[in-house]
Amino acid sequence: MTLGCGRRLSTLLLLAVTLVVVSPPWLSSPVDASVSYDHKAIIINGQRRILISGSIHYPRSTPEMWPDLIQKAKDGGLDVIQTYVFWNGHEPSPGQYYFGGNYDLVRFIKLVKQAGLYVHLRIGPYVCAEWNFGGFPVWLKYVPGINFRTDNGPFKAAMAKFTEKIVAMMKSEGLFESQGGPIILSQIENEYGPVEYYGGTAAKNYLSWAAQMAVGLNTGVPWVMCKQDDAPDPVINACNGFYCDYFSPNKPYKPTMWTEAWTGWFTAFGGPVPHRPVEDLAFAVARFIQKGGSFVNYYMYHGGTNFGRTAGGPFISTSYDYDAPIDEYGLLRQPKWGHLRDLHKAIKMCEPALVSGDPTVTKLGNYQEAHVYRSKSGSCAAFLSNFNPHSYASVTFNGMKYNIPSWSISILPDCKTSVFNTAKVGAPTSQIKMTWVGGFSWESFSEDTNSLGDNSFTKDGLVEQISMTRDRTDYLWYTSYVNIDSNEQFLKNGRYPFLTVMSAGHSMHVFINGERAGTVSGSLDNPKLTFRENVKLWAGSNKISILSVAVGLPNVGNHFETWNAGVLGPVTLEGLNEGKRDLSSQKWIYQIGLRGESLSIHTLSGSSSVEWGGASTKQPLTWYKAFFNAPAGNEPLALDMSSMGKGQIWINGQSIGRYWPAYKAYGSCDWCDYRGTYNEKKCQTNCGEPSQKWYHVPRAWLNPTGNLLVVFEEWGGDPTGISMVKRVAL
Ligand code: GAL
Repeated sequence: MTLGCGRRLSTLLLLAVTLVVVSPPWLSSPVDASVSYDHKAIIINGQRRILISGSIHYPRSTPEMWPDLIQKAKDGGLDVIQTYVFWNGHEPSPGQYYFGGNYDLVRFIKLVKQAGLYVHLRIGPYVCAEWNFGGFPVWLKYVPGINFRTDNGPFKAAMAKFTEKIVAMMKSEGLFESQGGPIILSQIENEYGPVEYYGGTAAKNYLSWAAQMAVGLNTGVPWVMCKQDDAPDPVINACNGFYCDYFSPNKPYKPTMWTEAWTGWFTAFGGPVPHRPVEDLAFAVARFIQKGGSFVNYYMYHGGTNFGRTAGGPFISTSYDYDAPIDEYGLLRQPKWGHLRDLHKAIKMCEPALVSGDPTVTKLGNYQEAHVYRSKSGSCAAFLSNFNPHSYASVTFNGMKYNIPSWSISILPDCKTSVFNTAKVGAPTSQIKMTWVGGFSWESFSEDTNSLGDNSFTKDGLVEQISMTRDRTDYLWYTSYVNIDSNEQFLKNGRYPFLTVMSAGHSMHVFINGERAGTVSGSLDNPKLTFRENVKLWAGSNKISILSVAVGLPNVGNHFETWNAGVLGPVTLEGLNEGKRDLSSQKWIYQIGLRGESLSIHTLSGSSSVEWGGASTKQPLTWYKAFFNAPAGNEPLALDMSSMGKGQIWINGQSIGRYWPAYKAYGSCDWCDYRGTYNEKKCQTNCGEPSQKWYHVPRAWLNPTGNLLVVFEEWGGDPTGISMVKRVAL
């Protein structure tokens, strides 16, 4: 391994030089690493590098898609692929690990290596990421005495165990750069800074414990903490945001890193679809590099799909497209992808000068600046910026005139010729079309809404939903009885009592004596919901059944793991002779999940265990099934669900995810200008339309013929309107 030895030697030499210059205390012991850093950049095999990275989360696509996604990232000028590690996918129950299918982390990393790219592995294990429960397994919440993300024994033990497991796995596969593998960086925790702020001493202790625990794993590559101004040495603190040019690391000997340059934003059911103009994204990245940044990661470069029940929330949509340079389906989003590729080329032309030192900054006008980098060997690169959001500027630099569009940066890799301007898009615009390829012939099966199953059980009062379901299903039935005396006035005057049901989230259907009385849902802003209607009751015993539906567990917020879901009450009846009757603490009968779920009717074998009928349409709580052949060709596929309400989809037993086209996007879609500071409310689409109407069907999940499609519809949508479409780039 002559290469390895040479590499190590040159690294040591560089470290020796670094020691003389700045001498960070933790470097005074010999560091045996092929990846290190100094104030300018990450250093790989002795070379400071300007690194362009992009997030691709492996479970958000299929292994069959990975090689193409990685190749497209490489062609787009990326050096690094960044991914989180998704704990709840890997350890579905304590000590039972899963690394198959789209959770095959090792396979993903090896594919990145094969393509000649590096990996930034964000182990977390808290990941946020609009991922169910922020990546924590739900069972973790029920470990006795646990308190998440603070100085708590059970939590630290579980976090250390999982982190060690992942690091050991990477080591045994030789995947760290120090072993000749592609992983050049890792991350511990995620945006803990804002949480620590309110967390007192326990939070501070936890933070330093997390850093020490990670560093103690001796990966031979640096650790990063994002949004963590006080990240302890040698951990590098990094920036996340739409812009990061204001950011400096917490020590002069750390490089300036941007772990999440948001390429767009996520969609929630009920919200519009965000878009970030590429002119602004390119401007933000150029601003960061111009100021001295040396590592930029696009979050997301490919967003992908929240298959199954992996979407966080509540209310995060199944699509995690993110307006990323590669769209949800794996196609290039043009001109975004191409314009960024051109930007990366221009930046790479400047790399020798950029890594050589700090820039000289000259004012060229009120809003205009030149940032000039020079290397000892004489190379010179300049960034000319115009921050004016209203008008272009004509500036003079080195005796030459340059016109710089509003809100843009021109890049001059030789300090003379502008090879790229962030606002001048040369890449072509692609037209994407969803074209119809076929409909379906449906059979239906009604979910039982009136009788309780053998596995129902009784408890006093109302109980929190997730503590019962442990999130193995979205559904929990709450059933109780109310006795109505024949003397009740309302039986005579027809002024029926008001039933009020208060729920902590996220959606529910209310039935009185088997008849649906209403459906209500919360929203991203407020997951809590209240049902309040006059309900028809009769003399004698009446049954109140509530199907409470979870729509993804929270992934962000202070102690988000303590947020409740389900009917926590009060549940009251008003307008009786006695006035108001509180039903909250009486006996309630619970049933976890749907009958169809317990029969696994989304699978081939399960589906044959029930009697299917003709397609009775527009009924709530109905299962539908159809068979279909795989459409010819290899264009990506989707289901157009616009005629449906809310529910879930499975193909050949695999969950495509939750659908909810009946939730129309609420918000403002009327303003988009790339100039001026971007935020996720700018440049939105789909207002007044479904937040998501198309649902990605991975080709890899299909057989040539006889595919089983199962849909569970909660609201009463019309399945005859469902069609298969293919996504075509024109
Ligand atoms: C960041 C977080 C990411 C993701 C992002 C929004 O704050 O670190 O995991 O949630 O916000 O898409």
